[in-house]
Amino acid sequence: MPDDFNAKLKRLEELRQQALLGGGQARIDRIHASARLTARERIHLLLDEGSFQETGVFVTHRCSELGMERNKPVGDGMITGVGRIDNRQVYVFAQDFTVFGGSMSEANALKVCRLMDQALENGCPVLGLNDSGGARIQEGVKSLAGYAEIFWRNTQASGVIPQISAILGPCAGGAVYSPAITDFTLMVDKTSYMFVTGPNVIKMVTNEEVTSEQLGGAETHSTKSGVAHLMAATDQDCLLLIRRLLSFLPQNNLEEPPRRPPVDRPDRADPALNSIVPDDPRRPYDMHEVIRSVVDEGDFLEIQPRYATNIICGFARLDGMPVGVVANQPRVNAGVLDIASSLKAARFIRTCDCFNVPLVTFEDVPGFLPGTEQEFGGIIKHGAKLLYAYCEATVPKLTVITRKAYGGAYDVMSSKHIRGDWNVGWPTAELAVMGPEGAVNILYRDDLKAAPDADALRRRLIDEYNATYANPFVAAGLGYLDDIIEPAQTRPQLIQALHNLRNKRQVAPPKKHGNIPL
Ligand code: HXC
Repeated sequence: MPDDFNAKLKRLEELRQQALLGGGQARIDRIHASARLTARERIHLLLDEGSFQETGVFVTHRCSELGMERNKPVGDGMITGVGRIDNRQVYVFAQDFTVFGGSMSEANALKVCRLMDQALENGCPVLGLNDSGGARIQEGVKSLAGYAEIFWRNTQASGVIPQISAILGPCAGGAVYSPAITDFTLMVDKTSYMFVTGPNVIKMVTNEEVTSEQLGGAETHSTKSGVAHLMAATDQDCLLLIRRLLSFLPQNNLEEPPRRPPVDRPDRADPALNSIVPDDPRRPYDMHEVIRSVVDEGDFLEIQPRYATNIICGFARLDGMPVGVVANQPRVNAGVLDIASSLKAARFIRTCDCFNVPLVTFEDVPGFLPGTEQEFGGIIKHGAKLLYAYCEATVPKLTVITRKAYGGAYDVMSSKHIRGDWNVGWPTAELAVMGPEGAVNILYRDDLKAAPDADALRRRLIDEYNATYANPFVAAGLGYLDDIIEPAQTRPQLIQALHNLRNKRQVAPPKKHGNIPL
């Protein structure tokens, strides 16, 4: 072989080694000491063995200010490429914290942009592994431009290909907005945080003292802000969660979600469901039990499991077919709808709808939460988002009313009138404008005041009201319910309905876009 060729091979090998080492062994050791993995280790764990093909391997930054021309790490702190998860193609970028703190430069933003363009052209998900000090300070506005190019692509890709963001270290400044536009944000407990302005700036501006963890840790965003959809204990767990999440989603909006060969029998009934709703309508029960009983192998990936827990959202399968489950939770504030639960469910419904995941709604809801806090906070516009999301969704919509379906919440929760495809009630269902106590107090206020034994009269009137309204028969007679089913038969019935709807195509009339009340 000619010397020149050998010299080039040698140079190539040197560059490859530099690319593998990023910011050097000492910095890699610091990453490990902080209970994090390096960007390359993460990619290795995330993807099917040996499937990763890297792009832009030798890219370096183009910055010459502040002595930067003397420090040009190979790859520029951003690893990009194509790989496979469960043998399905995905596009991945991972920020390498060992190189200028994983900060965003003009050159490495371009690597991400190229990756996103290719993902769109090939109709495959984009997975971002974020671990970054934000905009690269030395590059000034060029770095901000890079971010904006990514935000624009995030928006173009929204609703076309799934976009998933894992936060695996710091994520500060405008850097949080790319994850915020994507479909799912996952965080790791204790080692990741997200905020627009950090503790130091907050101290200067408002004099508040707060730690990074309190301000933007995984716990905060999983329970208080709702920014994080899923929280993992470690980097490894987080990467496994991404794999699991993808198993419920199609590659893009033109495909159906992947059906798994079913293990659980489709005709499996569960007699325990016949007695799950307590006789006393004020007594709660756990809607998780209903969901786990009905879905394949009880396997349920709950989204935002610790935020707005009065509503449950998550992915499951029925006869191998992915479905999005939305369910009121009677165990938390009687399953009432409020601002947070409306926002949580509305977002989930829209995510399912854009990726062709049918919706299954389990309903037991006493209405919207009254009070000044809710009204001043805008429950009208936020509740309207949930209503809008259900109305807008064209995927198959199946609704099972287990107990209460009161007032506006009856309309909102995927009722027949807003184009539920298959709506049924259990015999315990109650469809009414409001609960019996409230109704009797309004309708018979004067009689109750005048009665010698008001309590006895109230009880009699409540019994009368319940006999008339607190049942599914009136609504079924009007055709608002397709059937009243034995709770034990919920799984087989849902599966049959889902099969019947598998060719559902509903074309929305042309318009630029709707105007969801944001
Ligand atoms: C260039 C950066 C950097 C940055 C960190 N580094 N952030 N280099 N630009 N934004 C470098 C450090 O100099 C250091 O280099 C290495 O990365 C590791 O940083 P440390 O501070 O040693 O690590 P740690 O103690 O873990 O702290 C991490 C950190 C902190 C919390 C992220 O570095 C930090 O606060 N960075 C600045 C964050 C920030 O304000 N970013 C701008 C946000 S504004 P050496 O050589 O020592 O290894 C923004 C606008 C986006 O992002 C706009 C979009 C709309």
